[in-house]
Order: sequence, then structure tokens, then C-alpha cells
Amino acid sequence: MRVNIAVIGAQWGDEGKGKIVDLLTRHVSVVARYQGGHNAGHTVNVGDAQFILHLLPSGILHAGVRCVIGNGVVVDPEALFIEIETLSRQGIEVDDRLLISDKAHVILPYHRELEVLAEARRGDRKIGTTSRGIGPSYEDKVARRGIRIADLADGADDGPLAAAIRENVSARNCVVGGTEVDWRAVYAEARSVWERLERWVGDASLFLARSMDEGACVLFEGAQGTMLDIDHGTYPFVTSSNGTVGGICTGLGVGPKAIGGVLGIAKAYTTRVGEGPLPTELHGDVGNQLRESGREYGASTGRPRRCGWYDAVVVRYAVRVNGLDAIAVTKLDVLDALHEIPLCTGYRYRGEVLTEFPSNGTVLAACEPVYETLPGWSSPTAGVRRYEDLPPEAQSYLERIEAVTGVPIAIVSTGADRAETIVVREGLIDRWQADAAMPASVS
Ligand code: IMP
Repeated sequence: MRVNIAVIGAQWGDEGKGKIVDLLTRHVSVVARYQGGHNAGHTVNVGDAQFILHLLPSGILHAGVRCVIGNGVVVDPEALFIEIETLSRQGIEVDDRLLISDKAHVILPYHRELEVLAEARRGDRKIGTTSRGIGPSYEDKVARRGIRIADLADGADDGPLAAAIRENVSARNCVVGGTEVDWRAVYAEARSVWERLERWVGDASLFLARSMDEGACVLFEGAQGTMLDIDHGTYPFVTSSNGTVGGICTGLGVGPKAIGGVLGIAKAYTTRVGEGPLPTELHGDVGNQLRESGREYGASTGRPRRCGWYDAVVVRYAVRVNGLDAIAVTKLDVLDALHEIPLCTGYRYRGEVLTEFPSNGTVLAACEPVYETLPGWSSPTAGVRRYEDLPPEAQSYLERIEAVTGVPIAIVSTGADRAETIVVREGLIDRWQADAAMPASVS
């Protein structure tokens, strides 16, 4: 029996998880999202077609693959419907391949309003959120006043759904001055949403358990990245969910032994969107060059991403927190034009070199990256599909990444298309299945 693999961002999100999930989906029959919401933007290029997925697992692009949205995800039904319609126009039908956990929490219009207000109130300390209502929906969940997908089935005008919406809207009306929202309109909207959603709603944990019992192989698809995780990221400049490996168990209702292998995804450099620390950030021309050649603009919000050099302290931290078995290095081709490439191996703090990522934001702010500089290859790697066809300097760069990060590189991506990929370790998934030990290193 094959093992189930988790795909997790090893930086601040936007590492190219969508493409790698899409690539690995041919080995699985179920793809499951366990956290986040439509703040994610997973771009998948297939030939001339481009698909941008926000809430639906990237596996939806493969006919016959079942897709699960777990209880750990927050669902904006309107955003989901738009995504399903957009895919349908592109020739992809969701049909009955989707299962949404009845325990997933819902994002309602007042969540978006509350988020915009909270960000405005923070002023200079704003997080730079995606304004999708993600944080406030998770806040309601933890405060135990949230509305779950299954609650939308309640059609009684004096039932628990009506009462919960009435209370939440009345709280919103106290916080947002100037405008009053009528809870009855929100309730009517929630009920009409249920009519469209119902066909996809069920017990995701039970479905996954039964599928695995029958021999199905599952891919667990993370959104955002380790450094945006609510617990392990650069708090408070993080999202509101656990994108790290533990989120799989809580966000889907599966046990830890269901996870047979963990693949981290890291760009050959680093980006982040929104506010918060980014130790290797580049402010001048080189940063702009990376942004333009990497087309580093948010797939969800269109915001320009901040760019910096590869930070091995960050990815090593992701290896530890997630138990990564291997990494996929994406966007290698974006570095093609550079004559030399600095690689961050540690942080200098008060005369000492730190090699572990500090939890304290004040310490982090005082850290200076320690770089070693490798020669660039000044020749195109875009579209290269065999490791031996990479220029020797590109091979050395990857080997150095592998050495300072501490795990093997399993996949190298040299372009946006499915085909523009080097599988460094052929049969990775089969080997995971046969033996947890990874094969020999790249060199
Ligand atoms: P939120 O998830 O909208 O609350 O935003 C919190 C932080 O996470 C902000 O810095 C966002 O820019 C960032 N963020 C959320 N989702 C993504 C993503 O999919 N990729 C990259 N950054 C993200």
C-alpha cells in the first residue's frame, strides 16, 4: 500500500505548492485541504491554461480525484461558488468529487468588514491581511460563537442558526459605527447558500478513514507556509491557522500515523507578502529584479511580494517543526541572470551566530543575516527537465542548499508548467512507501 504524503510550505507561503501538489496528484486518489481559506492562491499552469485555486484543493484539476475541504478550513460560500463556476468555464467540473466537512466554519460578510476595521485600528502595526474575513471567522470559532457548515441546514426562523446570526450581527453593529446590518438579511443569505452547498457536505474524517481503509492514497495539501503558522510562524504577522504538519490531524480528523511522508516546498529564494520580519529581504534593484523575473505578485490579492535570498535558517526550522523528509525547490530559473547568489546560513546577533530561528521578535529584528556567496550560472535553466542538464553552478547551488538545509532535495522546478520539472529522486513516493529512508543525496 502507498503512503499518504503531506505537502507543506517551508517559507512564508507562495512557494509553488499548487504546482507540486498538481504534479503529485497522479499518484493519489484523494487530495485534502486542512486549514486556511480563500486567502490562499495556488497557481497551476497546464499547457496554455492557467488555473488559480483558492479554496478548492489543487487535485480538483485531475479527473476522478476526490477533494476534501476539512473542518480546519474556513469556507466563504460565495467565494467557493465563484471558484467552482470559474473552473467550470475552464472545462473542469467539480460534480460530486468535492466533500466539505460539516464541521468547517463559515465566513460571512460581517467577518470581512470586521477584519478591515481591525487592520485600520492597528495602524502602523497592521498585519497586512488578505481582507478575506479569515481571521475573524477563526476568532468566532475559538470564541465558540462560530457558525459551522452543518448549522446552515437549520431552517427554523427561531432556531439556533437564526439566534447565532442575530447575536453575531448585533455584536457587529456595536463595533462598526455608522451602518446597521439587518440580521434577517444575513440569515436569509445563509439559508440560500445551504441549498447550493448541501450536496457537498458530509463527515470528512469518516470519508478519509474509509477511503484509506479501502487502500486510497491521500495527499494532504497545506496552504500558506510554516512562517505564517499561528503557533510556529512570525507571530503576530501570521495567518490564523496551523499550516504546519499538526494542522493535518486537527483539521481533517485523521491520526498522525496516516501521514507517511512530509514534503516541504521552498523557493530558491524567499518571498513574503504583507507585513512582518523577513531577515534576508532585498530593498534595491536586485529585489525588484527577483520580483519581476519571478512575477512575484499575490495570486489572491495582486500585491507585490517582498523578495530576499534563500534563508536556510528558516527552511531548517521548517524541517524541524514539520518533520520534513525532503524539500522541493521551486523557481530556480528566476536566479538565471545573477552573477553571484548569496545564501543565508545563520543570523548574527550581538556578536554571536545563531543557527536556529529565534522565537522572540525583538531578537529577530536585531539579527543580521550571515551569507555565503555562490557563483551564479548566468545561463538559462528555464524548462530544464534533467538534473545533469543544469549548469554546474546551478547544481552546486542546489547541493549547497541541501547541505545547509539538512534534508534531500526531491524535486526542482524550473518553470511554471507541469512539465518544467526535474524529479531528482525518481519514484520518491514509491520509496516512501517501501522504506522511510531517503535515497542518496543529489551529488
Ligand atoms: P490572513 O491570512 O488574510 O489573515 O493574512 C495574514 C498574513 O498571512 C498576511 O501577511 C497575508 O499576506 C499572509 N497570507 C495569507 N495567505 C497567504 C498565502 O496564501 N500566501 C502568502 N501569504 C499569505
